[in-house]
Amino acid sequence: MANTPDLPWIPARRTAPALPADWVGGFDVGDVHIARPALLAPMSGVTDLAFRRTVLEASGTGSIGLLTTEFLSVELLTAGHPRTRSRMDFDASIERPLSVQLFGDCPQTMAEAARIVAAAGAQMVDINGGCPAPKVVKRGGGAELMRDPVRFAKIIEATVKAVPIPVTVKMRSGWNDSQKNVLEVARLAEQAGAQMISVHGRTRAQLYSGAPDWDVVDAVAQTVSVPVIGSGDLVTAEQTLERLKRTHAAGVMIGRAAIMNPWIFGQLDDLIAGNAPRIPGSQARIALVEAFAIRLSERLPERAVAGRLKQLLARLSKGVPGGGLFRTIALRAVTHEALLGHVRTFFEAAEAGEAERWAVQARQQLSAAKRPR
Ligand SMILES: Cc1cc2nc3c(=O)[nH]c(=O)nc-3n(C[C@H](O)[C@H](O)[C@H](O)COP(=O)(O)O)c2cc1C
Repeated sequence: MANTPDLPWIPARRTAPALPADWVGGFDVGDVHIARPALLAPMSGVTDLAFRRTVLEASGTGSIGLLTTEFLSVELLTAGHPRTRSRMDFDASIERPLSVQLFGDCPQTMAEAARIVAAAGAQMVDINGGCPAPKVVKRGGGAELMRDPVRFAKIIEATVKAVPIPVTVKMRSGWNDSQKNVLEVARLAEQAGAQMISVHGRTRAQLYSGAPDWDVVDAVAQTVSVPVIGSGDLVTAEQTLERLKRTHAAGVMIGRAAIMNPWIFGQLDDLIAGNAPRIPGSQARIALVEAFAIRLSERLPERAVAGRLKQLLARLSKGVPGGGLFRTIALRAVTHEALLGHVRTFFEAAEAGEAERWAVQARQQLSAAKRPR
């Protein structure tokens, strides 16, 4: 069940967290080989099939150690809720290895949902123990599971017994500063049969504020013998490489930076191979947005397509000269076609150093469109 990208830079395999110098060899999670040290972090409302395929196309098939879906409610999945089922869709021809993330608080329902995931052909199933959202926590799932490690372990155990594929978990450093119990929870998770543990180095109370604690990630990696994946604030390929060199974790996850820069996994490969990271030009950016729009349109209604495009563009335009002007003007577009029109003219103008001129023209067009006829 290995993913077998054709790569020049993989000298060795390893099966457990190892010294910082040999993360490059990849690692195994049960019988699934993770050939790349950077994984795509699960992001609800973001990492659907359209997004994952877009990142794979930008970075290169095989450039991502593991792809993970958005989290799915085990209640809705086991009840056959159509939208939840469709969120589990993946493209088995290019999305390997792929994990489906589940959230819930009942061992039996989690186990039943995991069976559905395994039957659909996913290589792994991940249990969410880190989501801070009140709607998830109030129902006993996500980060709430860290407040009841014994229950969390029971859920993992039931799931491990139910499926032949590796069961993994994702957690935070704890509930809040006075309950930073990730070491205890990670130990129990390993005993319960979890075969990989991802740690976002923030507490539930922190949400996404403050700096993530990578010392905590390293402490977990040195405590358990299954691979540990660190997550939190990796913004560039260079920074990711530096983190990989320093951490005891087997790999890292990249979340928000993959929205801002879907080429980031490919750039990391470039750096690892000793090359300068690829820099996408305006045509590549335009083509990426257009392809993403087509993929979204295949699955979503028009209103949702425009919303998702804006979500991508709000981050994709960061760091591009004139990106602020683009966000002020273009992200007000109502239809996705109008938005794509702005994308085509803006990225070309930005590359030519003419973002200001683009903004003047775009404003003129907007006020002409608003004038009564
Ligand atoms: C919009 C959004 C949605 C997220 N949804 C999930 C999720 O469904 N499951 C999960 O385990 N983590 C989720 N996370 C947390 C990320 O996987 C990741 O751990 C966190 O964003 C820190 O990494 P980053 O700084 O690279 O984004 C989400 C984060 C964001 C920003």
